[in-house]
Parts: sequence; structure tokens; C-alpha cells
Amino acid sequence: MYSRIIGTGRYLPERVMTNFDLEKLVDTSDEWIRARTGISERHIAAEGETTSDLASHAARNAIDAAGVEPESIDMIVVGTTTPDLVFPNVGCLLQERLGIGACPALSVETACSSFIYALTVADQFVRTGLAKRPLVVGAETMSRIIDWTDRETCVLFGDGAGAVVLDAASEPGIIFSSLGADGRYRQLLDTDSGISQPPPDGKKTSLRMKGNEVFKVAVRTLEGMVDEVIEKNNLKQGDIDWFVPHQANLRIIAATAKRLKIPMERVILTVAEHGNTSAASIPMALDTGIRDGRIKRGDLLLLEAFGGGFTWGSSLIRY
Ligand code: ACO
Repeated sequence: MYSRIIGTGRYLPERVMTNFDLEKLVDTSDEWIRARTGISERHIAAEGETTSDLASHAARNAIDAAGVEPESIDMIVVGTTTPDLVFPNVGCLLQERLGIGACPALSVETACSSFIYALTVADQFVRTGLAKRPLVVGAETMSRIIDWTDRETCVLFGDGAGAVVLDAASEPGIIFSSLGADGRYRQLLDTDSGISQPPPDGKKTSLRMKGNEVFKVAVRTLEGMVDEVIEKNNLKQGDIDWFVPHQANLRIIAATAKRLKIPMERVILTVAEHGNTSAASIPMALDTGIRDGRIKRGDLLLLEAFGGGFTWGSSLIRY
């Protein structure tokens, strides 16, 4: 048994923050941000708007696109770095919100790779017969863990959510998945505090990143991942129709596309309008490519991500 995608959806909060808005907050410029990252603007959740709010809009969208009833969903896996609460997990919050019946509901917390991890977990449940129709979501309110005085990180991130509905099928679907992590790099990209390691008095938990060092390991790891997918699936140049990467930085995406020998016209790009939305970026890019008609049934897609941990993952999918 395999899993195939039967519906996708996305949701972006209303408020748009441009690079020019950021110029008023920190010592930066639209020119620097665009040249170094490819980002022009990002969406920011409204006060009180939570990760599960964004996730529920995206999930409803995906369920509508799939043309199925919410009650037919038999597993929920949410990738997120910014859950509403310590518990219940965002999967359970979604389950209640969408009226999905009793079924396993969990969240996966592997930073920017969370969606690929969540997708792979759901796919394994389908392959072993434990689930037939999982809902997989990537949702983030990264704005809540941003230090808005740190110009090296605050210009990079945005909020949003993307979702896919999978269905059990006799043919793939998801052909190949690969996941990896290396905790030795934990200090290059992390948060300064959390729950059992609380923030110092009066402070909030904030993301920290040694961007330049992350950049180098990200490019090296993603190139290795591309080589692995090509080798293990005997792919030739031109076999992959669409590359749907995690949208952290246009330069990282371009380097990976070059290794894949795929032209940039065959890469789904949303980084300019969304910024880095962590777990949400891949399902939002996927939904963008599907809804605007570029990605068609039968196309071969490669999804890949790299994030804090470090964690990484890829997924080769026949859409
Ligand atoms: N505006 C203006 N100048 C800036 C800004 C800014 N916002 N930020 C940094 N600079 C300055 C630096 O201080 C530095 O100045 P100096 O030369 O006087 O020291 C200069 O610009 C160059 O800084 P670098 O860090 O070397 O710039 P780089 O080209 O590496 O770009 C960036 C920085 C965009 C962060 C890049 O390194 C990057 O994208 N890294 C990877 C991010 C990533 O992929 N993260 C993984 C996913 S995130 C997750 O998992 C949650």
C-alpha cells in the first residue's frame, strides 16, 4: 500500500510585513534582504491568532480540495516548531476544531524539516495499514519566537500554514523518503529557552542563528540529499518535473537546483512573498504550484527541507 496526495491547501495571515516595514525596526535595507535572501515580504499572524488557527484554515482548504468528509480522516500529523500550547498537541486542537473523529493525532517538532518528517510518519502509517487517509499539516507562528531587535534573524521568517490529505492507493504516490538529523550542530540554530529550560525573567523565548555557518552546512547537506535521491531512484536529468524546496533562502534553493540540474523555471518559489515559514513552507509552495496549474497529475516532484537540529529530509512523489 502507498499514499498519494488527494488534496492540498494553504493559509496566510492577513497582515503583510514588507522589507520597508523592517527598515523601521532594525538597521537593515530592502536591498540587503532581497540580495541575500530573495525575500520581499512575509505574513505575520494577528494578535491572538495561533498556529492551530492557521492550521485549521489550511486543513479545511485541503479537505475541500480533496472532496472528502472531515470524518473520513483517520490520522492527523502536524509539523510545527511553534505549537499553541505544551499540550494538547496541535493535532488534537485541529481534530476538535475540524470535527474529525477519534484517531491518532500528533505533532512533530523538527523545525524547518517538520513537514517532511510529518509526511514521512503519515506515509509509514499508510504503508503498514495503520491509516488510510491521514491529514498532514505544516503550520507556524514563527513571529512569536523572533527577537524583533535582531536584524540577523527577524528579516528571515514569516507565518503561515499548508496542508495535504493523503489517501491509501495501490500505486505511489510517495515513492521515496529520506530523513536525517545531527544534534552536534544544535548550537548553530536554536531557541535560547523553552519550557523545562525557562527564559530569564521578563524575557520571551527567542530564535538564535549563526546564519553564515548554517548556510554552509545547509547547502552541503542538501546537495548530499539530492545525490542520494538521484542515485537510489536511478533518476536521469529531466525526470523531476518540479522541485518544491523548503523556502529559507533563494541562494540555498538555487545551489540545490543546480546540483539537481533542474532549471529555476521548474522550481516552485514562494520565498519572496512568504519568507521562511519553517514547517509551513513546503506544503504552501506545493499548494501554490498545484492551484496555479503548474503541477499536474502524474508529475514527478521532489520535496526537500533542512532546519534546526540540524534536521533534514526529502520526499520523491508522483503527484
Ligand atoms: N541587514 C543588513 N545587514 C545585515 C543583516 C540585515 N538584516 N543581517 C546581517 N547583516 C550584515 C552582517 O552583520 C554582516 O556584516 P559584516 O560583514 O560587517 O560583519 C554582513 O551583513 C554579512 O552577514 P552574513 O551573515 O555573512 O550574511 P550571509 O550572506 O550569510 O546572509 C543569511 C545571512 C541570509 C542569514 C544566510 O546566512 C542564510 O540564509 N543562512 C541560512 C538560513 C537557513 O537556511 N536556516 C535554516 C532554516 S531555519 C529553521 O530551521 C528554523
